[in-house]
Amino acid sequence: MVEDPKRKPLVALAVLLLLSSAQAGNTDRLSGHNCTDFQTANFLQGRKLKVQFLLFTSSNPSCGELILPEDGIKNSSFNNSLETKIIIHGFRALGTKPSWIEGLVHAILHTSQVNVIAVDWVYGSTGAYPSAVENVTQLALSISQFISKLLALGISGTSIHIIGVSLGAHVGGLVGHFHGGQLGRITGLDPAGPKYTRASPEERLDPGDALFVEAIHTDADNFGIRIPVGHIDYFVNGGKDQPGCPRFISAGYEYLICDHMRAVHLYVSALKHSCPFMAFPCASHQDFLNGHCLDCVDPFLFSCPRIGLLEQAGVSMRKLPREVKVYLMTSPSDPFCVHHSLVEFHLQKKRSMVTSIEVTFFSNSTKDTAKITIPKDQEMGKHLLAHRVPLCQIKSMTLKYLPQSHFWKKDESSIVGKFCAAPLPLNSNRTMSCLPWNLTLPGNTDISHDLPTTCT
Ligand SMILES: *[C@@H]1O[C@H](CO)[C@@H](O)[C@H](O)[C@H]1NC(C)=O
Ligand SMILES: *[C@@H]1O[C@H](CO)[C@@H](O)[C@H](O)[C@H]1NC(C)=O
Ligand SMILES: *[C@@H]1O[C@H](CO)[C@@H](O)[C@H](O)[C@H]1NC(C)=O
Ligand SMILES: *[C@@H]1O[C@H](CO)[C@@H](O)[C@H](O)[C@H]1NC(C)=O
Ligand SMILES: *[C@@H]1O[C@H](CO)[C@@H](O)[C@H](O)[C@H]1NC(C)=O
Ligand SMILES: *[C@@H]1O[C@H](CO)[C@@H](O)[C@H](O)[C@H]1NC(C)=O
Ligand SMILES: *[C@@H]1O[C@H](CO)[C@@H](O)[C@H](O)[C@H]1NC(C)=O
Repeated sequence: MVEDPKRKPLVALAVLLLLSSAQAGNTDRLSGHNCTDFQTANFLQGRKLKVQFLLFTSSNPSCGELILPEDGIKNSSFNNSLETKIIIHGFRALGTKPSWIEGLVHAILHTSQVNVIAVDWVYGSTGAYPSAVENVTQLALSISQFISKLLALGISGTSIHIIGVSLGAHVGGLVGHFHGGQLGRITGLDPAGPKYTRASPEERLDPGDALFVEAIHTDADNFGIRIPVGHIDYFVNGGKDQPGCPRFISAGYEYLICDHMRAVHLYVSALKHSCPFMAFPCASHQDFLNGHCLDCVDPFLFSCPRIGLLEQAGVSMRKLPREVKVYLMTSPSDPFCVHHSLVEFHLQKKRSMVTSIEVTFFSNSTKDTAKITIPKDQEMGKHLLAHRVPLCQIKSMTLKYLPQSHFWKKDESSIVGKFCAAPLPLNSNRTMSCLPWNLTLPGNTDISHDLPTTCT
């Protein structure tokens, strides 16, 4: 039985309280300065914010350098000529260090030469969610003061990129708001939904908060926000439920936060791997799956946005449109990235019944499937197929016609037609590659064909 999603937050605290995973702050000696870890707060201690700014650099990505309030930046490894990424975590029910911090810091420093600042507000973020929310304004003020110190050193606002997770995304929005929307970029990783969906744009993350604002939505029906809040909003697999996440309460903690945390894991994967997390503007996820949104001409003038660190997500426009919902699929497990292809089947003659055909793409190591449905009295059906390797590495494919099994009406034992496919985004000519002959597909039988494409 699937649990009523509305009950999730209620069981959340109970489950969280059962899990005690206090982490000791590791401090070891490294050349010049001591390493500082995140604090650990008892969940009843959410009285003071005790914000810490920890600097990570590529010369020492595992060692957090505590930036002291007075003149701490000048006397640190902070490099004024590099861009700065500021990571802000969200609600921490148990007052523990976020488990994903190290992975995210390493992934950023693996990709780019930047200053990474992790904001530790574990103390203020613990206890009950509403009290963490009450602390958000004060936290945003203290991060703003920190940024003002950076600006005073001659660092440009445009070189500052805030990456906020869940509640941290809205903190980033407030910080950006305090800086008049002139900071370079804010990335919201599944921005929190509870208490924010109906908040005013001033209170939550919105496109006015930075020169470029993007959000990755993975749990819009629970802990995430369902409305678009950036210039570009990625609704991953529709933005609600993620493949590979448990759908039953028996999975405990994983069941509660898997969808929500997927945004962080996707982002880390996008930084670590070259596979493009490319997304497509569309009216809905269903329209996207049904092959109605195949390029990024409107509104992105051909350049499709990609999750990751490309400038403006790879979209080459001077003035960005706002709150554009873009869609992409992922695989159930790390590295999550897939390539999207459109697959089509054209019947030689129309049928008075719905026609279902299963399409499977095989590479040396992968097998990925989609189902084409041709409505009755129509000639053609199409669907997107998400495959984990590029189309040029797909060696073969199978087509399987699935006859309808109504006991009052026997379906045809085979169908004849033509198969076509094309990788997304479709080029301006919208050309598809088709198998050069009509295929006969017997019922419930895999018909195999080579797909002789080459990687360029
Ligand atoms: C590092 O920590 C040790 C022990 O706590 C302390 O004596 C020392 O002054 C610290 N060094 C720096 C550079 O902060
Ligand atoms: C920086 O901090 C270290 C350790 O606290 C101290 O020894 C050093 O004098 C400081 N340097 C400056 C320029 O303030
Ligand atoms: C700061 O970064 C620049 C650009 O990468 C580099 O040339 C310079 O050596 C760095 N400065 C320090 C003190 O590491
Ligand atoms: C954080 O919120 C809690 C609950 O409202 C409050 O008791 C606490 O004083 C706040 N902390 C700060 C530093 O504002
Ligand atoms: C797939 O396997 C063939 C034969 O073993 C090999 O030649 C080819 O390089 C492999 N392709 C990929 C993409 O791994
Ligand atoms: C589109 O078609 C024209 C004429 O058929 C051709 O010259 C051009 O190269 C094609 N463009 C692409 C992107 O395939
Ligand atoms: C496939 O069938 C259609 C419809 O009968 C026909 O127009 C077309 O020429 C055929 N294509 C090939 C390659 O045989």
